[in-house]
Amino acid sequence: MEKDLGNYRKSYEKGELLLKNVPENPLELFRDWFIEVDTLFDTEETNAMNISTIGLDGYPRNRVVLLKKYTYEGFIFFTNYNSEKGKAINANPNVCLSFFWQSAERQIIIKGKAEKIPENLSDGYFESRPRGSQLGAMVSTQSDVVLNREELEAGLQALEAQYENKEIERPKHWGGYMVRPVELEFWQGRPNRLHDRIRYQLQEDYNWKIERLAP
Ligand SMILES: Cc1cc2nc3c(=O)[nH]c(=O)nc-3n(C[C@H](O)[C@H](O)[C@H](O)COP(=O)(O)O)c2cc1C
Repeated sequence: MEKDLGNYRKSYEKGELLLKNVPENPLELFRDWFIEVDTLFDTEETNAMNISTIGLDGYPRNRVVLLKKYTYEGFIFFTNYNSEKGKAINANPNVCLSFFWQSAERQIIIKGKAEKIPENLSDGYFESRPRGSQLGAMVSTQSDVVLNREELEAGLQALEAQYENKEIERPKHWGGYMVRPVELEFWQGRPNRLHDRIRYQLQEDYNWKIERLAP
């Protein structure tokens, strides 16, 4: 099979990113971009992000998760701690997040360290989820091999019966990670492939070094 995609080409013209306009703190630029993309551009699931981990087999692996909170400290998402990504983070907390907001011609790449958030915060978010999602998190041994779909559905039905009219507690294997950033790169597409790239790197004194990168 062969399909040549050489003529897939697009000119990027929706914005610019200049050093003179960026804040000293990259989390503020993240916040500004997120809100702009979420409100001014036609984007679904603005909070969908890629997270790559270094697996136990030495290969990096990407998958999409949903960003559930951002603060000055970092980025929080929820998952199964025993999943493939959970095991990878346990062995090596260095991760990379990325967002591609096509409608705004923007990309953000974030390197950082992932750590489990305090249990009470995971409890709080778990409680806010719909019952079906709570039971789903409970029944799924995420990333394990399953024989068939029926096995999953039977597991869910059994839990539905077991927990009928009962409160569902967060399973200990499910919770949040906070990714504390050490580097963020903001990419804005520009005409003629002269894209804007601004990189922030965290210094030992906790200030951010800000540089423009060649596209
Ligand atoms: C749009 C989208 C959102 C997702 N959100 C999450 C999420 O918030 N948490 C999660 O664990 N998996 C989420 N997933 C599923 C993951 O991509 C992945 O399949 C799962 O976490 C297992 O990954 P692992 O086996 O590499 O650990 C999402 C997938 C998509 C496409």
